[in-house]
Amino acid sequence: MCGIVGYVGPNSSIDVLLRGLSRLEYRGYDSAGVAVIGTDAHLRTRKHAGKLKVLLDELKASPIQDGQTGIGHTRWATHGGPTDGNAHPHLGDAGKLALIHNGIIENFASLKEELLLDGETFTSETDSEVVAIMAGRAYRETGDLTRAMREVVARLEGAFTLLIVHEDRPGEVVGARRNSPLVIGLGDGENFLGSDVAAFVEFTRRAVEIGQDQIVTIRPDSVEVTDFDGNPVETREYEIAWDASASEKGGWSSFMRKEISEEPDAVANTLRGRVHEGEVLLPELGVLDDAVLASLDRIVIIGCGTAAYAGMLGTYAIESWARIPVEVELSHEFRYRNPVINERTLVVSISQSGETMDTLMAVKYARGEGARTLSICNTQGSSIPRESEAVLYTHAGPEVAVASTKAFVAQVTALYLLGLHLASVRGTLSADEITASINELLAIPGKLADVLIASADIGQLAGWMADTRSVLFLGRNVGFPVALEGALKLKELAYIHAEGFAAGELKHGPIALIEPGQIVFVIVPSPRDPNSLHPKVVSNIQEIRARGARVIAIAEKGDAAVLPFADEVIPIPLAAPMFEPLLAVVPLHIFALELATAKGLDVDQPRNLAKSVTVE
Ligand code: G6P
Repeated sequence: MCGIVGYVGPNSSIDVLLRGLSRLEYRGYDSAGVAVIGTDAHLRTRKHAGKLKVLLDELKASPIQDGQTGIGHTRWATHGGPTDGNAHPHLGDAGKLALIHNGIIENFASLKEELLLDGETFTSETDSEVVAIMAGRAYRETGDLTRAMREVVARLEGAFTLLIVHEDRPGEVVGARRNSPLVIGLGDGENFLGSDVAAFVEFTRRAVEIGQDQIVTIRPDSVEVTDFDGNPVETREYEIAWDASASEKGGWSSFMRKEISEEPDAVANTLRGRVHEGEVLLPELGVLDDAVLASLDRIVIIGCGTAAYAGMLGTYAIESWARIPVEVELSHEFRYRNPVINERTLVVSISQSGETMDTLMAVKYARGEGARTLSICNTQGSSIPRESEAVLYTHAGPEVAVASTKAFVAQVTALYLLGLHLASVRGTLSADEITASINELLAIPGKLADVLIASADIGQLAGWMADTRSVLFLGRNVGFPVALEGALKLKELAYIHAEGFAAGELKHGPIALIEPGQIVFVIVPSPRDPNSLHPKVVSNIQEIRARGARVIAIAEKGDAAVLPFADEVIPIPLAAPMFEPLLAVVPLHIFALELATAKGLDVDQPRNLAKSVTVE
């Protein structure tokens, strides 16, 4: 939510900032802007409502003087609509200081009131401009940009990443963070700041984490990090595990299409090094050792959006294998309902970005209540893993498209590994049963590659449905989270009404929605399912077909029982029932992508959304 980049060094800062913003645009695309201290020591800003392309075209048509110090921002609007005036950077000190902000300043109204009484004027409706004016005043008093930042953050409530530059201080960018992301990129005679490493990975793979409530000052040859009181703090440097090409489209028509094609690799890479000779090895659990895992009496999985649906699949697998009660809850609901948790509860947070504010706050809350905390995360150096006792990284690689796809299958894979590990520690599955499940998991990447091939016709199917106004998704047992995920993807990308239901619930209400022509996707369990759910779902299909529904079944290859009752069947390879969701979800990802494409929509940047939601 809002992308932030800062640069000091010998190169063209406009170029570095725009390249960084193009990699951060997934964080918000309501407006984009840059501020640069030109070689003539004057600060210039250029900002525009709309996607980054509008700013790029404008800078091409009428360039501003370049320099070696600058900041850039891509916005997801919170306070004030997506207009030119509300776009960042915002100015202070009579236009000599520029500020960019990600987050929400909760006490901005009272601060603004104070500034208005003191004669200041504002040109935007944002909370951020208040901070720009405060920073300008603080700089005028102190003549020191880092001190100015310190004085400002002491008065702010809420969540923020802030960057400031001042034309009197070329070669200096000062940043601060509280509950909002910021990382440092270390270069040779140049340094970078970014909301995440994507902002600078094409220039350096050396990164440094900045902790909560810290201030950083970068100059071409130095990086200083302090706490909000000015005391120096220790930092940790790490190497970014992927290179710039991993976050580029590489010839694909969209990031989403590329990322769906990477779903087999996302599973394979999440398994890599974690299974050996029929056993699950998770040394990264660290302090969550066997004794702690054996002492647990409950697991709560938390997440938002797609991550919560991955978590739902975790409840089926972990409870079934490790025989421990597991619940899943949306992070923002969990956090505020006074849940009963203690040191025998393991709170497993799931987040692709590692920055979702609702999940971050829920993890902090859980720790505060004494619960044990583990995160499943795709982004190294992000906030949620750092607030957790241990982290299982999903190695899906950078996910750029706003709607999550490959991260979902990687999250489910990590949960399955956790479930099998818990079953081993708690002795609830035999070694042979664990080995059999590991073998199932190891076969998933190859089967996913087959699903991608078998899904080649989904584009045509979606093309016929471009005018559809409503699509329903039905699933049962582990097919239910898949139905929810299919509906979410369609809402996000194609902007049509879509709902997922537990198939057993159909007769308790949703069946009233069925009218002739209603499209219903049904995730059909394997006929080999030990719970014998297959005939029940086939009956559900008959019930809705009798009322005129058009049924698209996602069913195991060779499932003859479903053929007479479905209008279309998308076949998936055979897998043990618990693992079928990993295969069944992919055609639904593709369907959402194709339907949105058929409607001419931007699949990577759907309206009103942002990939990383860093406000509550
Ligand atoms: C946003 C994204 C979703 C994502 C959710 C959770 O809403 O648009 O695609 O599932 O955030 O994100 P996280 O980074 O915590 O997995």
